[in-house]
Amino acid sequence: MSGAGAPDFFYREAQRLGYVARSAFKLLQMQKQYKLITPGSSVLDLGCAPGAWLQVACQSLGPLKNGGVVVGIDIKKVKVPSLHCDARVQTVSADVMNLSKEKVRVLSPQRGFSVILSDMCPLVTGITARDAALSVELGMRALDLAVGGAALPNLGDKPDGPAPDSDNNGVLKAGGHLVIKLLESEDVQGWIFFHKSRFLFYADLFAYFSFFLPFALQNSAGYASHSSERHPG
Ligand SMILES: C[S@@+](CC[C@H](N)C(=O)[O-])C[C@H]1O[C@@H](n2cnc3c(N)ncnc32)[C@H](O)[C@@H]1O
Repeated sequence: MSGAGAPDFFYREAQRLGYVARSAFKLLQMQKQYKLITPGSSVLDLGCAPGAWLQVACQSLGPLKNGGVVVGIDIKKVKVPSLHCDARVQTVSADVMNLSKEKVRVLSPQRGFSVILSDMCPLVTGITARDAALSVELGMRALDLAVGGAALPNLGDKPDGPAPDSDNNGVLKAGGHLVIKLLESEDVQGWIFFHKSRFLFYADLFAYFSFFLPFALQNSAGYASHSSERHPG
């Protein structure tokens, strides 16, 4: 897909379908491809504002009677969108970098989540190396929160990056799915290669990339410029 009309198309489609942002289409695409969220899933959505992924996650749970839960966390205060969301969706305003695993765990009725989505993104400065480093830092935090050190045997270490608590157990249930958004950079490829081998026994790790393109160019490339990759494949 290309052409100057593409961003308007997704923007208009999001409006037409009642999504609060066109990022909805990224999760819809992943959901279609990998069926990450199933009826009854407990979903943690890190960096959930303005709420498009909350909408898609709740829709993916199916009817209310199927159960399930969607918990969104963002630094920004997020109002649960009225369309496509129901009583199963709740949001918490907090900085994920400073949130302990126990505080996150208790947000799930089952004290753990079957799907963790991180669409967290730093405020992009335009300085590629800096933006990539900040993105990896957020990705590392999502990884530690999800699987902790306990899920990474044979290595005896924890992922690098800040750990706001000493709790070694992650909040992702065994066999769950983890999606982490990373701004594309050379370092990121190595990061994924390193971590995917650690996940083989525990959970699926998906990473998708946002390319460092000038905003206008990224828009004109539309979502075709975001590749989704599944790890392990
Ligand atoms: C691309 S937006 C997410 C869009 C969202 N998935 C949706 O579909 O509506 C990235 C979000 O990450 C949030 N974020 C960045 N750093 C964060 C942090 N340390 N803790 C919590 N949220 C963070 C930002 O506030 C921003 O709302």
